[in-house]
Amino acid sequence: MNRTETSTGAVASQTRAECAVISLSGVTREYSGHAGTVRALDQATFSIVAGEWVAITGPSGSGKSTLVNLLGCLDRPTTGELTIDGADVSSMAPAELDRFRADKIGFIFQQFHLIPYLTAVENVMLAQYFHSMTDETEARSALDRVGLGARAAHLPSELSGGEQQRVCIARALINNPPILLADEPTGNLDAANQGIVVDLLRGLHNQGHTIVMVTHDPEMAGLASRRIALNHGKVFCHPVGGGPVIRLGR
Ligand SMILES: Nc1ncnc2c1ncn2[C@@H]1O[C@H](COP(=O)(O)OP(=O)(O)O)[C@@H](O)[C@H]1O
Ligand SMILES: [Mg+2]
Repeated sequence: MNRTETSTGAVASQTRAECAVISLSGVTREYSGHAGTVRALDQATFSIVAGEWVAITGPSGSGKSTLVNLLGCLDRPTTGELTIDGADVSSMAPAELDRFRADKIGFIFQQFHLIPYLTAVENVMLAQYFHSMTDETEARSALDRVGLGARAAHLPSELSGGEQQRVCIARALINNPPILLADEPTGNLDAANQGIVVDLLRGLHNQGHTIVMVTHDPEMAGLASRRIALNHGKVFCHPVGGGPVIRLGR
């Protein structure tokens, strides 16, 4: 139970499900191909509440990308219910899902995915453009926030890997989404740059951002407040506050 204060000062109790920013119930994703059907995610049932930092781990082929694509609204479940920030996304039409994604999810990718012919500040402004309207002052202050104010006019090729990842983080934050989805955020970085990005993620978590991060790196996973492990498409959640690993779902 979480205890939250209401506007009248009364203390209300909420279950985890009630304050979930992400909630899955029996979510299954199957891929059909010429070789038959693969069940990449099998009856996943869990929730993530606002302010959590969750690490998604698991061996190659266990369903991590499948899960991240669903949480990032890039894909929809074959069956089951997926609720993000109060909205049922399992049944949204593709155009509605595009709009929803721009509003709710900030993506931090291992490969950065910056546009090579746009400067750092223009890359951030592009995310504003897809969301609503551009505002260069705001985009510059997002770069300031990740310590890159002095690099605003640089092209990605003129930035180190760590700096490119910080532009990516500024871009993820610019529309103030409730969820940050990071896929191996330090996977392409050397130790020094990894340290800088880890400090930034720590800072964002301390400010109350919800972070969902896929990682192979046990050290990175150890930074998260909770781990969700995948194996052959099945979800094993480390419960809040420690304790034994339990299988959630049917
Ligand atoms: N588009 C697809 N078509 C068919 N099978 C797929 C597709 N994408 C993933 N799979 C299969 O689903 C399983 C999970 O894949 P994935 O989610 O990419 O795992 P991970 O990211 O953990 O490596 C794997 O067995 C993979 O081969
Ligand atoms: Mg993958």
